[in-house]
Amino acid sequence: MMREARIDLSAIRDNVAKIRRLVAPARVLAVVKANGYGHGLELAARAALEGGADQLGVADLAEALQLRAAGIDAPVLAWLHAPDADFDAAVDAGIEIGVSSREQLERAVGAVVHLKIDTGLSRNGIPPADWDAAVARAAELERTGVLRVRGVWSHLANAGARETERQRRRFEDAVAAARAAGLDPEVRHLAASEAAIAAPATRYDLVRIGIAMYGLPPAEDVDVAALGLRPAMELAASVAAVRRVPAGEGVSYGFVHRTERETTLALVPLGYADGLPRAATGEAEVAIGGRRHPVVGRIAMDQCVVDVGDAHVAVGDRVVVWGDPATGAPSAEDWAAAAGTIGYEIVTRVGPRVPRVPA
Ligand SMILES: Cc1ncc(COP(=O)(O)O)c(C=O)c1O
Repeated sequence: MMREARIDLSAIRDNVAKIRRLVAPARVLAVVKANGYGHGLELAARAALEGGADQLGVADLAEALQLRAAGIDAPVLAWLHAPDADFDAAVDAGIEIGVSSREQLERAVGAVVHLKIDTGLSRNGIPPADWDAAVARAAELERTGVLRVRGVWSHLANAGARETERQRRRFEDAVAAARAAGLDPEVRHLAASEAAIAAPATRYDLVRIGIAMYGLPPAEDVDVAALGLRPAMELAASVAAVRRVPAGEGVSYGFVHRTERETTLALVPLGYADGLPRAATGEAEVAIGGRRHPVVGRIAMDQCVVDVGDAHVAVGDRVVVWGDPATGAPSAEDWAAAAGTIGYEIVTRVGPRVPRVPA
């Protein structure tokens, strides 16, 4: 084994099942965009469905079509569309379309749609000023059999309890306006992982769960382990070389690190092309044989160097870069802290050279 991202499918299944129990009677949409947050689109989707997810969600239609090409026929919602996105192909493939503008509504002929209201994130979603006209038009299109409005939804900024409550009230107003226009949406959905866990009033009929189903926290103050969730990805490699070096030896580009004493250096064939953030240089650790050791010197494109001191480490030993902290390995969150980012970015940026290996 050169390098691998081992994906614990039972962790994804169990995480989804636990979240499902937590949010019931709300249903669960499993978010598998961005290659299943780096875990592999198809692996993540199948495991989530086995864990009881009611439906899948992705950003692009291309991702939704990839699910269909893999033979996955569960309901899929796609919500971020290029101006020339092919809605006909989506309709043919039975993909539900998140609609964020009047223009998209007019193009969604034959589709099952979820109308998105912008409740304050200022990204996509129909602006509040356009909402009444949009729902009136959607009701007309539904009456005449052009499309079906299955959902009304929005997305939260996770900007604190007060802002969430403000967005939630705007969402309620939007749902009321949709009903007043004659629509009867079967699913109202607002919450992603953080709100689904921490703000029960935002659960409505469906929650869109991304990061929590992969066993990582949606925010620093959410203790996913206490909820029984566990990380599904273990990024690992085999030690490619070992050398004993004297004190004062430079390590990797720029010699930003020099050995303080005689020590053993292990070469790990994973670098920033594989998703190790270069910004974590000087801060990160890995585990070898259950023991933590520091990554020293600049993280390079294909490789990094670990100072194992006087530990007995040999070529071929398995190095866990991040995984389940319960095993003694650093977590994706630890790497995120080392690089000044979030666990989401750590797992989604694992590069294409790393095979996702189901376990
Ligand atoms: C619209 C939408 N819903 C849900 C999610 C899932 O979010 P999380 O990973 O925080 O659960 C995302 C991801 O960014 C999203 O864009």
